[in-house]
Amino acid sequence: MNHQTRVYDNVFELLPNEQNPSPLVRINRMNPVPEFALYAKLEWMNPFGSVKDRAAWTMLQDLEHRGELGNGRGIVEPTSGNTGISLAAMARARGFHMRAVVPNKVPLEKKVLLKIAGAQLDVVSDELCPAPGLGDGSINIAKTHAKASRDKYAMPNQYENEKNVEAHFQTTGPEIWRQTEGKITHLFVSLGTCGTVTGTSRFLRSKNPNVKVIAVQPTEGHDVPGLRNVTQLGVSKLFDSSLVDDIVEVEFRLAYSRAMELCQTEGLLAGPSSGLIYEGAREIILRDKAGCGVMIFPDNIFKYTSNMMKHIPGLASGNQA
Ligand SMILES: Cc1ncc(COP(=O)(O)O)c(C=O)c1O
Repeated sequence: MNHQTRVYDNVFELLPNEQNPSPLVRINRMNPVPEFALYAKLEWMNPFGSVKDRAAWTMLQDLEHRGELGNGRGIVEPTSGNTGISLAAMARARGFHMRAVVPNKVPLEKKVLLKIAGAQLDVVSDELCPAPGLGDGSINIAKTHAKASRDKYAMPNQYENEKNVEAHFQTTGPEIWRQTEGKITHLFVSLGTCGTVTGTSRFLRSKNPNVKVIAVQPTEGHDVPGLRNVTQLGVSKLFDSSLVDDIVEVEFRLAYSRAMELCQTEGLLAGPSSGLIYEGAREIILRDKAGCGVMIFPDNIFKYTSNMMKHIPGLASGNQA
Protein backbone atom coordinates (compact mmCIF):
# COMPACT_ATOMS: atom_id res chain seq x y z
CA MET A 1 0.00 0.00 0.00
CA ASN A 2 1.14 3.53 -0.69
CA HIS A 3 -0.88 6.41 0.76
CA GLN A 4 1.18 8.92 -1.25
CA THR A 5 0.29 7.53 -4.67
CA ARG A 6 -2.92 5.93 -3.35
CA VAL A 7 -2.21 2.58 -4.96
CA TYR A 8 -3.51 -0.35 -2.91
CA ASP A 9 -3.43 -4.16 -3.02
CA ASN A 10 -7.05 -4.49 -1.85
CA VAL A 11 -9.95 -2.33 -0.70
CA PHE A 12 -9.31 -3.01 3.01
CA GLU A 13 -6.08 -1.03 2.86
CA LEU A 14 -8.24 2.05 2.30
CA LEU A 15 -9.86 1.75 5.74
CA PRO A 16 -9.21 4.76 7.97
CA ASN A 17 -6.56 4.95 10.68
CA GLU A 18 -4.02 7.47 12.00
CA GLN A 19 -1.85 7.06 8.86
CA ASN A 20 -4.86 7.29 6.52
CA PRO A 21 -7.44 9.45 8.37
CA SER A 22 -10.84 10.42 7.02
CA PRO A 23 -10.70 14.12 6.02
CA LEU A 24 -11.34 17.02 8.38
CA VAL A 25 -12.89 19.97 6.52
CA ARG A 26 -13.44 23.40 8.03
CA ILE A 27 -16.93 24.91 8.06
CA ASN A 28 -16.84 28.41 6.60
CA ARG A 29 -20.06 30.06 5.45
CA MET A 30 -22.21 28.20 7.97
CA ASN A 31 -20.04 29.02 10.99
CA PRO A 32 -21.88 31.66 13.09
CA VAL A 33 -18.78 32.28 15.30
CA PRO A 34 -15.64 32.51 13.09
CA GLU A 35 -13.36 32.61 16.17
CA PHE A 36 -14.60 29.11 16.92
CA ALA A 37 -12.85 26.80 14.45
CA LEU A 38 -15.42 24.20 13.43
CA TYR A 39 -14.50 21.10 11.40
CA ALA A 40 -16.49 18.24 9.88
CA LYS A 41 -14.93 14.78 9.77
CA LEU A 42 -16.18 13.26 6.53
CA GLU A 43 -16.87 9.63 7.31
CA TRP A 44 -18.52 9.06 3.92
CA MET A 45 -15.01 9.13 2.45
CA ASN A 46 -14.43 5.70 4.01
CA PRO A 47 -14.35 2.89 1.39
CA PHE A 48 -17.81 1.47 2.17
CA GLY A 49 -19.42 4.86 2.61
CA SER A 50 -19.94 5.58 6.30
CA VAL A 51 -18.60 5.79 9.85
CA LYS A 52 -19.69 2.17 10.30
CA ASP A 53 -16.74 0.92 8.22
CA ARG A 54 -14.71 1.26 11.41
CA ALA A 55 -16.89 -0.88 13.68
CA ALA A 56 -17.74 -3.38 10.92
CA TRP A 57 -14.06 -4.03 10.16
CA THR A 58 -13.01 -4.39 13.81
CA MET A 59 -15.91 -6.75 14.56
CA LEU A 60 -15.34 -8.81 11.40
CA GLN A 61 -11.63 -9.15 12.08
CA ASP A 62 -12.32 -10.23 15.64
CA LEU A 63 -14.70 -12.98 14.44
CA GLU A 64 -12.20 -14.12 11.82
CA HIS A 65 -9.29 -14.19 14.28
CA ARG A 66 -11.37 -16.25 16.70
CA GLY A 67 -12.12 -18.77 13.92
CA GLU A 68 -15.86 -18.01 13.99
CA LEU A 69 -16.20 -17.58 10.23
CA GLY A 70 -15.72 -19.88 7.25
CA ASN A 71 -16.75 -23.46 6.39
CA GLY A 72 -20.21 -22.23 5.47
CA ARG A 73 -20.50 -19.94 8.51
CA GLY A 74 -21.25 -16.30 7.68
CA ILE A 75 -22.80 -13.35 9.48
CA VAL A 76 -26.24 -12.31 10.69
CA GLU A 77 -26.68 -8.76 12.01
CA PRO A 78 -29.53 -6.36 12.90
CA THR A 79 -28.85 -3.03 11.20
CA SER A 80 -30.49 0.24 10.21
CA GLY A 81 -28.38 0.09 7.05
CA ASN A 82 -24.88 1.44 7.28
CA THR A 83 -23.34 -1.33 9.41
CA GLY A 84 -25.03 -3.87 7.17
CA ILE A 85 -23.71 -2.28 3.98
CA SER A 86 -20.14 -2.18 5.34
CA LEU A 87 -20.36 -5.70 6.80
CA ALA A 88 -21.97 -7.21 3.69
CA ALA A 89 -19.39 -5.79 1.30
CA MET A 90 -16.50 -6.74 3.59
CA ALA A 91 -17.83 -10.22 4.36
CA ARG A 92 -18.49 -11.01 0.69
CA ALA A 93 -15.03 -9.74 -0.30
CA ARG A 94 -13.58 -12.20 2.24
CA GLY A 95 -15.79 -15.03 0.99
CA PHE A 96 -18.44 -15.13 3.75
CA HIS A 97 -22.22 -14.83 3.38
CA MET A 98 -24.25 -12.16 5.18
CA ARG A 99 -27.85 -11.86 6.34
CA ALA A 100 -29.14 -8.43 7.44
CA VAL A 101 -32.23 -7.98 9.63
CA VAL A 102 -33.58 -4.54 8.85
CA PRO A 103 -36.47 -2.48 10.31
CA ASN A 104 -39.12 -1.72 7.69
CA LYS A 105 -38.79 2.07 8.14
CA VAL A 106 -35.20 2.04 6.83
CA PRO A 107 -35.02 4.10 3.60
CA LEU A 108 -35.57 2.12 0.39
CA GLU A 109 -32.16 3.22 -0.90
CA LYS A 110 -30.44 1.49 2.03
CA LYS A 111 -32.43 -1.72 1.57
CA VAL A 112 -31.48 -1.87 -2.10
CA LEU A 113 -27.86 -1.02 -1.30
CA LEU A 114 -27.74 -3.85 1.24
CA LYS A 115 -28.81 -6.27 -1.47
CA ILE A 116 -26.34 -4.81 -3.96
CA ALA A 117 -23.55 -5.14 -1.36
CA GLY A 118 -24.45 -8.84 -1.16
CA ALA A 119 -26.67 -9.21 1.91
CA GLN A 120 -29.69 -11.45 2.12
CA LEU A 121 -32.41 -9.22 3.59
CA ASP A 122 -35.05 -9.79 6.33
CA VAL A 123 -37.29 -6.75 6.58
CA VAL A 124 -39.12 -6.70 9.93
CA SER A 125 -41.59 -4.45 11.69
CA ASP A 126 -39.48 -2.47 14.19
CA GLU A 127 -38.44 1.00 15.27
CA LEU A 128 -36.11 2.98 13.02
CA CYS A 129 -33.05 1.91 14.94
CA PRO A 130 -33.16 -1.71 16.11
CA ALA A 131 -33.87 -1.88 19.85
CA PRO A 132 -33.32 -4.82 22.19
CA GLY A 133 -36.25 -6.27 24.10
CA LEU A 134 -38.92 -5.51 21.55
CA GLY A 135 -40.07 -9.11 21.18
CA ASP A 136 -39.92 -9.70 17.47
CA GLY A 137 -37.70 -6.67 16.81
CA SER A 138 -34.75 -6.96 14.50
CA ILE A 139 -32.18 -7.65 17.25
CA ASN A 140 -34.16 -10.58 18.63
CA ILE A 141 -34.83 -11.99 15.16
CA ALA A 142 -31.11 -11.87 14.36
CA LYS A 143 -30.37 -13.55 17.72
CA THR A 144 -32.92 -16.26 16.92
CA HIS A 145 -31.24 -16.98 13.58
CA ALA A 146 -27.82 -17.07 15.26
CA LYS A 147 -29.05 -19.51 17.94
CA ALA A 148 -31.12 -21.73 15.65
CA SER A 149 -28.40 -22.07 13.00
CA ARG A 150 -25.10 -21.97 14.90
CA ASP A 151 -23.25 -23.65 12.06
CA LYS A 152 -24.51 -21.02 9.60
CA TYR A 153 -24.27 -17.68 11.44
CA ALA A 154 -22.06 -15.68 13.78
CA MET A 155 -23.63 -12.43 15.07
CA PRO A 156 -21.28 -9.48 15.66
CA ASN A 157 -24.08 -7.59 17.50
CA GLN A 158 -22.94 -3.99 17.16
CA TYR A 159 -25.28 -2.95 20.02
CA GLU A 160 -23.32 -4.89 22.63
CA ASN A 161 -19.94 -5.58 21.03
CA GLU A 162 -17.01 -3.80 22.76
CA LYS A 163 -15.12 -4.08 19.44
CA ASN A 164 -17.47 -1.38 18.15
CA VAL A 165 -16.14 0.97 20.86
CA GLU A 166 -12.55 -0.23 20.37
CA ALA A 167 -12.70 0.65 16.65
CA HIS A 168 -13.19 4.32 17.53
CA PHE A 169 -10.70 4.24 20.40
CA GLN A 170 -8.07 2.94 18.00
CA THR A 171 -8.85 5.01 14.91
CA THR A 172 -11.34 7.92 15.14
CA GLY A 173 -9.92 9.32 18.40
CA PRO A 174 -6.22 9.18 17.42
CA GLU A 175 -7.01 10.60 13.96
CA ILE A 176 -8.79 13.62 15.44
CA TRP A 177 -6.08 14.19 18.04
CA ARG A 178 -3.41 14.21 15.35
CA GLN A 179 -5.42 16.21 12.80
CA THR A 180 -6.16 18.99 15.32
CA GLU A 181 -2.63 18.80 16.79
CA GLY A 182 -4.22 18.20 20.17
CA LYS A 183 -6.17 21.49 19.97
CA ILE A 184 -9.66 19.99 19.96
CA THR A 185 -11.91 21.49 22.68
CA HIS A 186 -15.33 20.14 21.58
CA LEU A 187 -16.44 16.85 19.99
CA PHE A 188 -19.92 16.72 18.42
CA VAL A 189 -21.47 13.30 17.74
CA SER A 190 -24.80 11.54 17.34
CA LEU A 191 -26.04 8.47 19.19
CA GLY A 192 -26.91 5.17 17.51
CA THR A 193 -25.18 2.14 18.95
CA CYS A 194 -23.03 4.72 20.82
CA GLY A 195 -19.81 3.07 19.62
CA THR A 196 -18.65 6.37 18.08
CA VAL A 197 -19.30 8.55 21.13
CA THR A 198 -17.90 6.10 23.69
CA GLY A 199 -14.73 5.06 21.82
CA THR A 200 -13.82 8.53 20.50
CA SER A 201 -14.47 10.35 23.80
CA ARG A 202 -12.61 7.71 25.78
CA PHE A 203 -9.52 8.28 23.63
CA LEU A 204 -9.72 12.08 23.51
CA ARG A 205 -10.41 12.34 27.26
CA SER A 206 -7.37 10.13 27.91
CA LYS A 207 -5.31 12.78 26.11
CA ASN A 208 -7.09 15.81 27.55
CA PRO A 209 -9.80 15.31 30.21
CA ASN A 210 -11.17 18.78 29.43
CA VAL A 211 -12.36 17.95 25.91
CA LYS A 212 -16.12 18.61 25.92
CA VAL A 213 -18.23 15.88 24.38
CA ILE A 214 -21.62 16.90 23.03
CA ALA A 215 -24.11 14.31 21.86
CA VAL A 216 -26.88 15.53 19.59
CA GLN A 217 -30.14 13.62 19.44
CA PRO A 218 -33.38 14.02 17.52
CA THR A 219 -36.74 14.76 19.15
CA GLU A 220 -38.90 11.77 20.05
CA GLY A 221 -40.85 10.14 17.23
CA HIS A 222 -38.07 11.11 14.84
CA ASP A 223 -37.35 9.90 11.33
CA VAL A 224 -33.54 10.10 11.22
CA PRO A 225 -32.14 6.67 10.28
CA GLY A 226 -29.32 5.34 12.44
CA LEU A 227 -30.07 7.49 15.50
CA ARG A 228 -31.71 7.21 18.90
CA ASN A 229 -33.59 9.58 21.13
CA VAL A 230 -32.51 9.56 24.80
CA THR A 231 -35.67 7.64 25.78
CA GLN A 232 -34.32 4.72 23.71
CA LEU A 233 -30.79 4.98 25.09
CA GLY A 234 -31.16 2.68 28.11
CA VAL A 235 -31.06 -0.22 25.67
CA SER A 236 -27.68 0.71 24.20
CA LYS A 237 -25.14 -1.25 26.24
CA LEU A 238 -22.27 0.83 24.86
CA PHE A 239 -23.49 4.21 26.16
CA ASP A 240 -21.40 5.67 28.99
CA SER A 241 -22.95 8.88 30.31
CA SER A 242 -19.73 9.78 32.19
CA LEU A 243 -18.10 10.42 28.79
CA VAL A 244 -20.72 12.95 27.66
CA ASP A 245 -20.98 16.57 28.90
CA ASP A 246 -24.16 17.69 27.16
CA ILE A 247 -26.99 16.02 25.29
CA VAL A 248 -28.59 18.54 22.93
CA GLU A 249 -32.02 17.70 21.59
CA VAL A 250 -32.81 19.01 18.11
CA GLU A 251 -36.19 19.07 16.33
CA PHE A 252 -35.70 16.18 13.93
CA ARG A 253 -36.86 17.94 10.76
CA LEU A 254 -33.89 20.31 11.14
CA ALA A 255 -31.69 17.28 10.40
CA TYR A 256 -33.04 17.41 6.85
CA SER A 257 -33.05 21.20 6.32
CA ARG A 258 -29.54 21.59 7.77
CA ALA A 259 -28.29 18.70 5.61
CA MET A 260 -29.63 20.52 2.55
CA GLU A 261 -28.02 23.77 3.69
CA LEU A 262 -24.67 22.00 4.13
CA CYS A 263 -25.00 20.68 0.56
CA GLN A 264 -25.89 24.08 -0.88
CA THR A 265 -23.71 26.38 1.24
CA GLU A 266 -20.59 24.43 2.18
CA GLY A 267 -20.50 21.95 -0.71
CA LEU A 268 -20.62 19.14 1.84
CA LEU A 269 -23.06 16.46 0.65
CA ALA A 270 -23.99 15.56 4.21
CA GLY A 271 -26.74 13.15 5.28
CA PRO A 272 -29.46 13.89 7.86
CA SER A 273 -27.55 12.73 10.96
CA SER A 274 -24.76 15.15 9.95
CA GLY A 275 -27.38 17.91 9.57
CA LEU A 276 -28.60 17.15 13.09
CA ILE A 277 -25.07 17.19 14.53
CA TYR A 278 -24.35 20.51 12.80
CA GLU A 279 -27.45 22.10 14.39
CA GLY A 280 -26.39 20.89 17.85
CA ALA A 281 -22.85 22.16 17.29
CA ARG A 282 -24.19 25.53 16.16
CA GLU A 283 -26.12 25.94 19.44
CA ILE A 284 -23.06 25.08 21.53
CA ILE A 285 -20.57 27.30 19.68
CA LEU A 286 -22.97 30.24 20.02
CA ARG A 287 -22.92 29.49 23.76
CA ASP A 288 -19.19 28.80 24.23
CA LYS A 289 -17.89 31.38 21.70
CA ALA A 290 -14.29 30.12 21.30
CA GLY A 291 -12.64 26.76 20.72
CA CYS A 292 -11.85 24.09 18.18
CA GLY A 293 -14.72 21.74 17.44
CA VAL A 294 -14.93 18.52 15.45
CA MET A 295 -18.25 17.14 14.20
CA ILE A 296 -18.32 13.52 13.09
CA PHE A 297 -20.40 13.45 9.88
CA PRO A 298 -21.50 9.77 9.64
CA ASP A 299 -22.55 9.50 5.98
CA ASN A 300 -23.60 11.46 2.90
CA ILE A 301 -26.96 12.36 1.38
CA PHE A 302 -27.15 9.85 -1.47
CA LYS A 303 -28.98 7.18 0.54
CA TYR A 304 -31.67 9.61 1.69
CA THR A 305 -33.29 11.11 -1.40
CA SER A 306 -36.70 9.59 -0.55
CA ASN A 307 -36.48 10.84 3.06
CA MET A 308 -35.46 14.29 1.80
CA MET A 309 -38.50 14.40 -0.48
CA LYS A 310 -40.66 13.58 2.53
CA HIS A 311 -39.24 16.26 4.80
CA ILE A 312 -38.19 19.15 2.53
CA PRO A 313 -41.26 20.92 1.13
CA GLY A 314 -41.14 21.37 -2.64
CA LEU A 315 -38.31 18.92 -3.28
CA ALA A 316 -40.65 16.27 -4.65
CA SER A 317 -42.68 18.60 -6.89
CA GLY A 318 -41.92 19.15 -10.55
CA ASN A 319 -40.09 15.84 -10.89
CA GLN A 320 -42.58 14.36 -13.36
CA ALA A 321 -41.78 14.82 -17.03
C1 LIG B 1 -26.29 7.60 9.54
C2 LIG B 1 -25.79 7.29 10.92
N1 LIG B 1 -25.51 8.29 11.75
C3 LIG B 1 -25.07 8.05 13.01
C4 LIG B 1 -24.90 6.78 13.50
C5 LIG B 1 -24.46 6.59 14.93
O1 LIG B 1 -23.24 5.95 15.13
P1 LIG B 1 -23.03 4.97 16.36
O2 LIG B 1 -23.79 3.70 16.06
O3 LIG B 1 -21.55 4.72 16.43
O4 LIG B 1 -23.56 5.61 17.61
C6 LIG B 1 -25.20 5.71 12.67
C7 LIG B 1 -25.08 4.35 13.17
O5 LIG B 1 -25.57 3.38 12.64
C8 LIG B 1 -25.64 5.96 11.35
O6 LIG B 1 -25.96 4.95 10.50
